[in-house]
Amino acid sequence: YFAYEASKPLAGKKLLITAGPTVEPIDPVRYMSNHSSGKMGYAIAEQAKKAGAEVVLVSGPVTIPPPKGVKVIEVKQATEMMDAVMNELATSDIIIKSAAVADYRSKVVFDEKIKKNSEELILELKKNPDIAAEVGRVKRPDQMLIGFAAETEQVEQYAKGKLERKNMDLIIANDVTKPGAGFGTDTNIVTIYDRDGDKIELPQLSKQEVARHIVQVIGERLHART
Ligand code: CTP
Ligand code: CA
Repeated sequence: YFAYEASKPLAGKKLLITAGPTVEPIDPVRYMSNHSSGKMGYAIAEQAKKAGAEVVLVSGPVTIPPPKGVKVIEVKQATEMMDAVMNELATSDIIIKSAAVADYRSKVVFDEKIKKNSEELILELKKNPDIAAEVGRVKRPDQMLIGFAAETEQVEQYAKGKLERKNMDLIIANDVTKPGAGFGTDTNIVTIYDRDGDKIELPQLSKQEVARHIVQVIGERLHART
């Protein structure tokens, strides 16, 4: 009985995870996006499913297949990702924001393809909604919010700032300038921070291994609460 419990630490829990990039249209043929492959988020979705959770994966466009048994909601823009998350939020116990949400979108989405008839072109951008911050604002005490911080400098300070500002329970930080931790790689090097100032530093591991550790930490913290 104990062995079963230990292998299914998220049994009975619904886990909502976002992954991949968002894609922000400019005109009918162009968009702004980023280098997120979705690998880290998809690995967490897979490990959470194995740990017994009901998993809903809200995903931006990626080229990798979704894990088996996971409900996938495909989105493109940050605003669509926000709507999908808000629709699933009330029934979720754990919310993980691994998506690389575009911070800005084009103020205007042009109806026709922009023609190259000037030497300079100024595109005005508008800030996207911060999905993690909104979840942090409205979440119930029984819900756990986990975010990511991919940084190129001052990793710990920036990560801790986001943890506080967005009212997250945990943040998973990585220095994307380290070889083996960047975008599109199959490995990652992360540190998990909590609100008590505790940190868990993981060595370079495959993204599946990192995901397994993250799921385990979440499971332990959920059980410590009850
Ligand atoms: N995030 C989000 N919605 C956004 C931007 C970010 O939900 N519009 C989430 C990310 O999914 C991640 C966390 O917030 O879990 C931190 O994202 P990051 O880009 O590192 O932080 P920002 O607040 O956008 O700050 P900056 O890019 O300026 O460092
Ligand atoms: Ca950002």
